[in-house]
This record gives sequence, structure tokens and C-alpha cells, in this order.
Amino acid sequence: MRGEGSAPGKVILCGEHSVVYGRPAIAVPVSDLRAHALLEGRPAGSGLRIVAADLGETLALGEAPAGHPLAAIARSTLAHLAVPEPDARLTLRSDLPIAAGLGSGAAVSVAVVRALAAYHDRELSPEEVSALVYEVEKLHHGTPSGIDNTVVAFERPVYFVRGREPETFAIGSPFHLLIANSGIPGSTRDAVLGVRHRWLKEPVRYQALFDEMGAIAEEARGAIEVGDLERLGRLLDDNQLFLQEIGVSLPELDELVERARQAGALGAKLTGGGAGGNVIALVPAPALEAVERALAERATQVWATVIRQSHLSQ
Ligand code: PMV
Repeated sequence: MRGEGSAPGKVILCGEHSVVYGRPAIAVPVSDLRAHALLEGRPAGSGLRIVAADLGETLALGEAPAGHPLAAIARSTLAHLAVPEPDARLTLRSDLPIAAGLGSGAAVSVAVVRALAAYHDRELSPEEVSALVYEVEKLHHGTPSGIDNTVVAFERPVYFVRGREPETFAIGSPFHLLIANSGIPGSTRDAVLGVRHRWLKEPVRYQALFDEMGAIAEEARGAIEVGDLERLGRLLDDNQLFLQEIGVSLPELDELVERARQAGALGAKLTGGGAGGNVIALVPAPALEAVERALAERATQVWATVIRQSHLSQ
């Protein structure tokens, strides 16, 4: 028996952090960078063995602690499917860097859910997959907004407000993003906790900052819908200023952002939790090479992706 599953990475275009406080955010799937899970039958009685190929980690489900994210998603999925632990090997591979704001944790979890469902000839709705993965995201992040599991499970651009049904929306014209890895591992959990700490100290100021960030996300949605990429670029730049203000950027991220702009990007910002991880740059096609070169001089990796209407969102 066999079952396969895969899931894309994601980037948050705008609204990270403020989304934790109920403001809107926009995230898009990065379909070129994916996590893959393959489940293959083993002899009866051998149980489920999880092999995280990239991490060099092997785990027997029967012996894994409750808080282990891979074991947790496997257990909750099996419970949801109402099936016993299979005798199988689950091999995981991912193109996505870890702790870089590209949703690698959510992508691996979604791939696991899909592989386990496929193994049992079942198909789960994106809503079911997203709900299962959300529970495990809590182990990674503490108080996740739910944006990662939503965009990765649905594989569509989403306009997301915590606690509401995610909305998808049309993309007026496809656009190019460059994603550059600073090489500094950023802990989303710590970044979120840091913002919470500062918000508790200065609630009025932070509420106002979150309002501004929410307004940017709202306007960015409109810019994407009508294909106004110049305006979208300016909004990304504005969002970066607020991310600096709430203390989640780093000089290294600011430098990458500046390089992208100087080389011809329409706008650039950090993406995800920050304090490390990646920046994104919105780049007109003719400037792609120059911006990529400028970023590659400092970044450990640079990926190019095109954000377009996915077939799922028609
Ligand atoms: O670091 P990432 O890509 O998982 O994104 C986290 C986004 C935050 O808004 C900072 C946290 C959240 O739960 O939404």
C-alpha cells in the first residue's frame, strides 16, 4: 500500500503580527517550493515509522512524545480518519527552509495529513486539513493566528482575519516575487512573544500600529485585485516600516530590503515572524535579474516565484 501527499510553502504579503491581534493579513501559496510525504506499507506489526529525510530524524510513532509535532499530526489525523496506526514508513522531504517564515511546518503537516488520507483512500476537505494542522501549529508557535495552515491547506491566495472564514480573491495580474533567505533562523514563537510583551507595555501605541498595518493589508488586497503593482510595492514598503517599529526586523533584513529596492524592486519587506528568516521583493520582470543578483550577494538563498490565480481558486 502507498499514499502520497504534498503541500506548498507560503509567504505573507502583508499583515504578519498584526493578524495575531485581529487585523487582516494577506498570504499567498508558493507552489514551486513544497513539502512531500510518502507512506509505504511495511510488514504487519511494525507500526508507523516517520523518517524526516532532511533532518536526519527517524521516529517510531509508538515511542514518540505527545508534544512532537510530527507524531502529533500523525496521531490526530489517524484519530480523525478513525483508523488504527498503519504498519508503514512515512518519508518526509521538503524544499522549504525551516524557521524562515515560509510555512515549512504547516507544509510538512499538510503533506502528512494528505499522505495518511490517501493511504486509506480518503480525501479530506481543505477545511478539515487546515483544522487538523492548526492544532499542531500551536506546538510550533504558541498562539498562531491560523494563517499558515489556511493558505497552505487551501493553496490559494487568502485574505485572512483570525476567527473568520478565510476569503480568497482574484489576482488582477500575475506578479513576480523574489524570496531571499537572510540565513538567520528566526523563531516565530519568540517574535510573537516579543511583540506581545511590548504590546502589553504600550497597548495604546501598539493598537494604533496594528490598525495601520491592517489598513495596509486591506488596501493591498484592492491593489492585487486590480493588478496595481506599483501601489502594492509601496504598500509592502510601508508595511516594512511598521514591522521595524514593532521590533521584528533586523539590520540584516533591512539591508536585503534596501538592496532589492535599489536594484529595481517595486517594494520589499520581511515576511513571516521576522527576527531572521526571509524578505520578499515585488519585482517587475525586466528587473528580476538585477534584483536577484543584488540579493544573492548577501542572502544564503534566493528563490523566484510567480504569484498567479491558482486553478483551485477559480
Ligand atoms: O513565521 P511564519 O511564516 O510562520 O508567520 C508567522 C506569522 C505571524 O503573524 C507572525 C504569526 C501568526 O501566527 O500569524
